Amino acid sequence: MRDIAKMAVIGSGVMGGGIAAQAANAGVPVLLFDVTRDVAAAAVARLLTAEPAPFMLPANARLLTPCGIRDDMALLEGCGWIVEAVVEKLDVKQDLYKQIERFRAPGSIVSSNTSTIPLAALTAGAPEAFKTNFLVTHFFNPPRYMRLLEIVAGPNTDRQAVDTVCHFADHALGKSIVHCKDRPGFIANRLGCYWMQAAITEAFAQGMSVEEADAVMGKPFGIPKTGIFGLADLVGIDLLPQVNASLAAALEKDDLFHAVNVPLPFLDKMIADGLTGRKGKGGFYRINRAQGKRKETIGLVSGEYRPWRGVSLDETTPLLRQDSAHGRYARAVMLKTLAYASLLVGDAADDTASIDAAMRLGYNWTWGPFELIDRIGIANFRTMAERQGLPLAPVLKSGDGPLYRGRSALSLDGNYKPLTRSPGIVLLEDVKRNGPALLSNGSASLWDLGDGVACFELTTKMNTFDAEAFALLSRSIDFIPKNHKALVIYSDAANFSGGVNLNWLLAEANGPDEFEALAKLGQDRFKKLKYAPFPAVAAAAGLALGGGCELLLHCSGIQAHAESYIGLVEASVGILPAWGGCGEMILRMRNNPWAPKGPMPALLRAFELLTMSTVSKSAAHARELGFLRSGDGITMNRGRLLADAKAKALALAKNYKAPEKPSFALPGPSAATALGLAAESFVRLGKASAHDLAVAKAIATVLSGGDTDSTLPLTEEAMLALERREVLKLAASPLTQARIRHVLDTGKPLRN
Ligand code: NAI
Repeated sequence: MRDIAKMAVIGSGVMGGGIAAQAANAGVPVLLFDVTRDVAAAAVARLLTAEPAPFMLPANARLLTPCGIRDDMALLEGCGWIVEAVVEKLDVKQDLYKQIERFRAPGSIVSSNTSTIPLAALTAGAPEAFKTNFLVTHFFNPPRYMRLLEIVAGPNTDRQAVDTVCHFADHALGKSIVHCKDRPGFIANRLGCYWMQAAITEAFAQGMSVEEADAVMGKPFGIPKTGIFGLADLVGIDLLPQVNASLAAALEKDDLFHAVNVPLPFLDKMIADGLTGRKGKGGFYRINRAQGKRKETIGLVSGEYRPWRGVSLDETTPLLRQDSAHGRYARAVMLKTLAYASLLVGDAADDTASIDAAMRLGYNWTWGPFELIDRIGIANFRTMAERQGLPLAPVLKSGDGPLYRGRSALSLDGNYKPLTRSPGIVLLEDVKRNGPALLSNGSASLWDLGDGVACFELTTKMNTFDAEAFALLSRSIDFIPKNHKALVIYSDAANFSGGVNLNWLLAEANGPDEFEALAKLGQDRFKKLKYAPFPAVAAAAGLALGGGCELLLHCSGIQAHAESYIGLVEASVGILPAWGGCGEMILRMRNNPWAPKGPMPALLRAFELLTMSTVSKSAAHARELGFLRSGDGITMNRGRLLADAKAKALALAKNYKAPEKPSFALPGPSAATALGLAAESFVRLGKASAHDLAVAKAIATVLSGGDTDSTLPLTEEAMLALERREVLKLAASPLTQARIRHVLDTGKPLRN
């Protein structure tokens, strides 16, 4: 394995800029090249304002050095990996490779981010030394957020070069690697472009509306709700004909892609009119600001925009069997797409699992094409596909057994082969195959991770807390010391925890006594976890909000996925953190190396976080905000989170001692008044409502220790009682209740 201490990215556009930013997020210095240094510098400035943010912390931009290809190529000598991400033109890329070859250090690796050009074409005529160190690394847009990295190695590529890039991309950049054969469009775009093109042409042919097509091509197949037209808007409608043309030029004449790649004059006109999607004047969808931000769609016959109409599908019969317009559309597009996917086995990919992984990771499909076929039933699928005269690959032709059995996949020779993951990539789904849960109820389970570590998994919607979740947490804490020495809190779901289940809160908290009992329940359970005789490590990923954040704060350690969005957002529903979160946040701030020193600045930071319901924009940001402590870890690759959290738990378990109870030296009412005044100025500026002020004052009271005499420290119990007292007052307010109902009804906060 070679060292990649420094990188170069050439081409500072959409992809090059994003790849460079992700390397900076991993702490790696990057030389970012473009035609001139100024163009590259402008790209860095653009990255700082782009949405979704390419940088996990704005300060990471300092790791990028803008360079120009005329003046700075000599600097390539210091780079272990050089990524080419210039325009998709073979001659431009090959010209550049000649220059790179003059300046790069021997043994350095060069890769292209091409989306369609085969490696063989890119390296044609290149010297041997270049070929042995060259591969294709195809990132997806946006590179920070899309987990797929397709890798193609040529026949001459040195194994060590491939291993080096794979290791770095996996561990440092957090990517999931799918190895592809050297075929046009590799895997995801080859199939993805086919699917999009088939779906768009069929929508026109069958007279579907944009909304109908997207409703069919979305949820029923586990595809993101952008569906087909929404996705086209997202990637840029102008890119579609370019990528399609490039694919068509590279694919053999008998490839079935050509049958769907028909001219679409409607799209050509949209592009000519500047209707290129989200980046343009509008796309298949647009927000009409002149009409009070009305959502509109384009009519596929009229070409005129009209108000968006929601489509509800009959989900009772599987769509593929429905004798309806939607069913016909679904069959026309999906059967064709899945059949085409089967033809890519052995052509674009070695196996079905690579194709499934590529579509899950590159197009955010919940199930890859072969997982979809298993859901449909292979015999069923075959009958329907053959009825349409679709050619199927041998892997689908024989047998009626599923394509997947547990962690084994049917291979071309008709045998099931076990699927392996790289060492350190473990999902709870793998653990679950080893045997039943140690404990389980309707809201959570406890699993055995081996080596004396147990895993508490929330299984509710958004991993929210309700009575059963708390009950299982409590039982788990009693159970663990018998046979285990540490606990990890983790689930394979996208989000760590959305906090309290608000439905449960509303149903249970009928009066002040019940509400107080709920607050007490959460406090008791989380303190039981904090003072347990074993360490607990929270493996955060995605959202950890409100009570979910409080759960994190009570763990002995946190191992957070780089994409962790952590915050105490109770104020947004008119309450305050009352499961011990206020006290824990004060302790965090006191010890936070980032926070300004002294009791008042620390208090002010906590007050700001809580009143503004600040949510971190990454794990690195969560560390800056003080949710993560210096000893807490960050994992770039989501697939490595569980193993990393387990390792952390085992490290903490050596000579583990539960923490001592803290005491709180807090400034008392004068500080609460000062914080309240600060909040009042926001009301005067119109930035906060009267109820926001009431919430802020309650938070200020708790954080400053209530009526405490500043010379006398408060116990943890006193802090918890204070949290309960103040939250109870807020919960009684109709304005708070309206906020909670609004979130339940709309999923969005209410500013009242
Ligand atoms: P872009 O047009 O946004 O950026 C290309 C950049 O390269 C521009 O800043 C341009 O000034 C610069 N450039 C052109 N010739 C150069 C040269 N000789 N030396 C230095 N810089 C040069 O293009 P984008 O979208 O970033 O695409 C780059 C590559 O990534 C292409 O090969 C494309 O096929 C591939 N790709 C694009 C994806 C996308 O979604 N945009 C996704 C995956 C791959």
